[in-house]
Amino acid sequence: MLELSRRNLMIGGAGLLGAGLLMSKPGDESGPRDPYFLELQAALMEAGIASPTLIVDKARLNANIDTLIGHLPAGMAYRIVAKSLPSLDLIAHIRKRSGSGRLMTFNQPMLTALSRAMPEADQLLGKPLPVAAARNYFSSLAAGEAPAAARVQWLVDTPERLRQYQELAAATGQTLRINLELDVGLHRGGLEAGDTLKSMLETLRDAPEFSFAGFVGYEPHLAALPEALGWRDRARSGAWRRYGEALMQAAEVSGADAVSNLVRNAAGSPTYRYYQDTEVANEISAGSCLVKPTHFDTPLLEPHLPASFIAAPVIKSLAHTRLPGLEFAAEGQRAWDPNTSRTVFIHGGNWLADPVDPPGLSYNKTFGRSSNQEMLTGGHNLAIAPDEFVFLRPHQSEAVFLQFGDIAVFEDGRITERWPVFEASA
Ligand SMILES: Cc1ncc(COP(=O)(O)O)c(C=O)c1O
Repeated sequence: MLELSRRNLMIGGAGLLGAGLLMSKPGDESGPRDPYFLELQAALMEAGIASPTLIVDKARLNANIDTLIGHLPAGMAYRIVAKSLPSLDLIAHIRKRSGSGRLMTFNQPMLTALSRAMPEADQLLGKPLPVAAARNYFSSLAAGEAPAAARVQWLVDTPERLRQYQELAAATGQTLRINLELDVGLHRGGLEAGDTLKSMLETLRDAPEFSFAGFVGYEPHLAALPEALGWRDRARSGAWRRYGEALMQAAEVSGADAVSNLVRNAAGSPTYRYYQDTEVANEISAGSCLVKPTHFDTPLLEPHLPASFIAAPVIKSLAHTRLPGLEFAAEGQRAWDPNTSRTVFIHGGNWLADPVDPPGLSYNKTFGRSSNQEMLTGGHNLAIAPDEFVFLRPHQSEAVFLQFGDIAVFEDGRITERWPVFEASA
């Protein structure tokens, strides 16, 4: 990453860096293609695929599911984060292999789609929805789909939202399962033990419109904090202390028995491995680590394999890089940074993704990004022909997976299935 940004600065001709005073000359990173990507390319060609495509490698996905389940302590349930795995077929596959019937859902269209396709699943909202979206959800379902709605756990973060949901429950004659969002240190809103939580717990205990389902305490910041001087450990114990205080308050208000049945949700991909017993949480949620975009290249997730790639067909492969209006500078740039020697233009582009094969490719800051024909430059040994594929790794899955139509599933050297994705919605 650092090398990439330095190189981009060079191409942009930035002052001191351009003079080479602060950096060493880059080496040529181009070289032979990775046999794995050549195999993916052959599978795409055999399947007649000729447009930018999102690929999921099923063997790697399966290995990631097994890795995740293998890391869970006894009694810890797994909840599938639907937004990070945004395809009904992908989720169905993960449900089957992991044995999990729990989903974390993030918007009303997703909630409706999952209620229809998997009415038996237990859906927990991963963020509080406006009460109008909850109302739209109920009206989106046919009468026969009511049992799926009864299984939804609505996430609530404030007394005001609880009041709105109570009105909705009264108006629709539904009993709503309510899960409370805790702030265990992320400070993205949510509740802490104290008077407000107490009064909401009392409402949940007393109001016939509600049944109290549990807590969500999400803490992805922990993985981002430095380990130095015990900083991360302190934040982690602080998060668990806050969670424990909320549980104690729930026991005081509703009794220990009621609390023993609660869903105690925590974690996400970056932090699920911190939970080595069920003292605080009794379920962890994770999604991204099963397909592992680059933002999840962390030491804790090292056992997980990259399982999703963008394949983009090459339109043009040029033996020399030439930049409009800067033709005179090409020789100098190439002499300084051999990775700017050759150029490919691909179909599409401008995705949240990094090129990974052929090796040594990078975006060209001077030429700029393009969603139509993106320019990538590479070294002297870059060898790729028009209609072959460049491969990129997405930075994240939730938005990127939605940009390519049906996912191409790669298995045993072939594209074996196409999995439609969710409609785009935040
Ligand atoms: C409440 C909550 N839990 C868990 C997750 C974890 O998702 P992932 O594993 O894809 O990072 C998220 C992601 O945004 C979230 O908002």
